[in-house]
Amino acid sequence: MDLNAICDRVIVLAKEVGQFIQGEQLKFQSESIEYKDVNNVVSYVDKEAEKQLVSALHSILPEAGFITEEGTVETQDLPLKWIIDPLDGTANFVHGLPHFSVSIALVQDKYPILGVVYHVGTGELFWAIQGQGAYRGDQRIQVSRAKHLGESLLATGFPYYSFEQQDKYLLILESLMQKTHGLRRFGSAAIDLAYVACGYFDGFFEYNLKSWDMAAGILLIQEAGGHVTDFEGGDDYLFGGNIVAGAPVHQELLHVISTLWKA
Ligand code: IPD
Ligand code: CA
Ligand code: CA
Repeated sequence: MDLNAICDRVIVLAKEVGQFIQGEQLKFQSESIEYKDVNNVVSYVDKEAEKQLVSALHSILPEAGFITEEGTVETQDLPLKWIIDPLDGTANFVHGLPHFSVSIALVQDKYPILGVVYHVGTGELFWAIQGQGAYRGDQRIQVSRAKHLGESLLATGFPYYSFEQQDKYLLILESLMQKTHGLRRFGSAAIDLAYVACGYFDGFFEYNLKSWDMAAGILLIQEAGGHVTDFEGGDDYLFGGNIVAGAPVHQELLHVISTLWKA
């Protein structure tokens, strides 16, 4: 399997699908918003973008299965899988905000080996192949060097449809807003992770994410020299849903989160 050749084709595809989404945003009407759950929105654009991705990725690598957000294909339990989020940041998209992405990962067993995140609004194309580093376009990227929370800018996501853990999450936010330069909630976990990989953010955490929000971004961070764990410091993040990611501040960030999460 030639991962570099595959990656080149995936990058072209991510950009094509991104242009499709951008074109649709210009004419998008709020009547086209559908609800998966209270506050959890989706649209025909998410579904159509996913169909385009699945069809093209299947021809790039027919032996791989799929895990996709919009369920275009049945999940096939194969060792190689594409894990894709056709439009990460749907709430931003439907409100006209140009902050959303296309996220595509190739995962072997539970480990991402190729990841592409395309920030449609800025045109930033992040990619990584296991063992080859992480890049924005043709430029190699590295996580930040900030060592302590006191010198960090963090990103997170707020719960919006599942509130069981809200109280603990609010305690974590309260603690971190007093310890850091700030917390950002931009609305696309895939971009948040890419922005940790390139050093804009020093850390990221969120609970109840899905594998398609994270798979590509996780590899970007690992290949850019960062650390990724679950809220207990273990490795059950991709399918467990709770993630702490960061550069040197990962350790301090994990300490705050793990302490308050189990309280
Ligand atoms: C969402 C975004 C958001 C995160 C949510 C995700 P979607 O994905 O990644 O940043 O906070 O938990 O569900 O629904 O826009 O693909
Ligand atoms: Ca998502
Ligand atoms: Ca999505």
